[in-house]
Amino acid sequence: MKATEVKQDIYWVGATDWNIRNFHGYSTGRGTTYGAYLIMDEKITLIDTVKAPFAEEMLSRISDIVSPEKIDIVISNHVEMDHSGSLPAVRKLCPNASIYTCSPAGVKGLTAHYGPGEYLPVKSGDSVSIGKRTLTFVSTPMLHWPDNMVTYCPEEKILFSNDAFGQHFASSERFDDEVDLSLVLEEAKKYYGNIIMCYGRQAQAAWNTVNGLDIDIIAPSHGVIWRRNIPAIMDAYALWSSNEPSTGAIVVYDSMWNSTDSMAKTIAEAFGDSGIHAKLYDLKSNHYSDIVPDLLTCKYIAVGSPTLNNQMMPSVAAFLCYLKGLSPKNREAFAFGSYGWSGQSIELVEKELEACGFHICLDKIRIPYIPSEEQLQKIYTDVTDILK
Ligand code: FEO
Repeated sequence: MKATEVKQDIYWVGATDWNIRNFHGYSTGRGTTYGAYLIMDEKITLIDTVKAPFAEEMLSRISDIVSPEKIDIVISNHVEMDHSGSLPAVRKLCPNASIYTCSPAGVKGLTAHYGPGEYLPVKSGDSVSIGKRTLTFVSTPMLHWPDNMVTYCPEEKILFSNDAFGQHFASSERFDDEVDLSLVLEEAKKYYGNIIMCYGRQAQAAWNTVNGLDIDIIAPSHGVIWRRNIPAIMDAYALWSSNEPSTGAIVVYDSMWNSTDSMAKTIAEAFGDSGIHAKLYDLKSNHYSDIVPDLLTCKYIAVGSPTLNNQMMPSVAAFLCYLKGLSPKNREAFAFGSYGWSGQSIELVEKELEACGFHICLDKIRIPYIPSEEQLQKIYTDVTDILK
């Protein structure tokens, strides 16, 4: 397989995972890539590897440029196995290569995954000369693991950003200006929401660091390489990491016999008629990770569930569990749902929304069995009232 030249003597040697549709619980409808980068300098350097099943693909791309045994330095920006999984294969081929990683979490993580090794810990700001080029390491802890770092090459103005600025987007093209930018930004937003949103403070700190660097290329470890649209992705990260919602609304629910469904549609209509852009998500038809991009920028969240065996629907519980983990801030929320005789689900949903840290802007809406026209009209009025 061929390597792709990013700049003279710098190559993308990663792998394309066309068929992955679930990335540890995140739906990846457009597949993904695992970016690894080879720098041909006095010391031949490999930045990150790929998921283990793709080791042969990566080694084949490296072999397009140089025999893999000649690699002198391996840099591990991040221990998670989609980037370190082929490290054992590389170590086997190049037993004397130095492996640089972030200290101490990177060393601890690599040791836990692959056993003891000659891992060379680096601190934020440390540099290594590989010949004509220098590589400087910048720690980006909890973006999204404790070990995360990025690697910057000042002579080439390239940032090897690992997960940051990534997108789960498989393509035969390697650069942002070779694909539909709207699709890439859509996937970058989904990636940010699902992977990075809960570390917004750290994302802002990293953004400030990156913004201070002179950069021509951002080479992430998922998706396409940014070279023409760096301002677009930097502006987007500035907006998303601010965690300041705009005015949109999402209505997320499950329904058994369409009663909660009727309530959800009435709520969405009330938002829309009040000038609030609203989106409706039935959890039977939508994966929770596909809802997150709208969650990233919406101000209002309405969550509905009928009562099933004294509980909320499992699909709604899963969504709320995921939502709590992502911990978006500064949202207005309320619960709704129909029920038969006990109706605990709506209160349970409201409690979960409170536990997410949201402000409850409307008392829970409970309707027995099937909502009448009058009851739907009251829901409509109550929702429009909070928006006045
Ligand atoms: Fe793409 Fe955190 O690994």
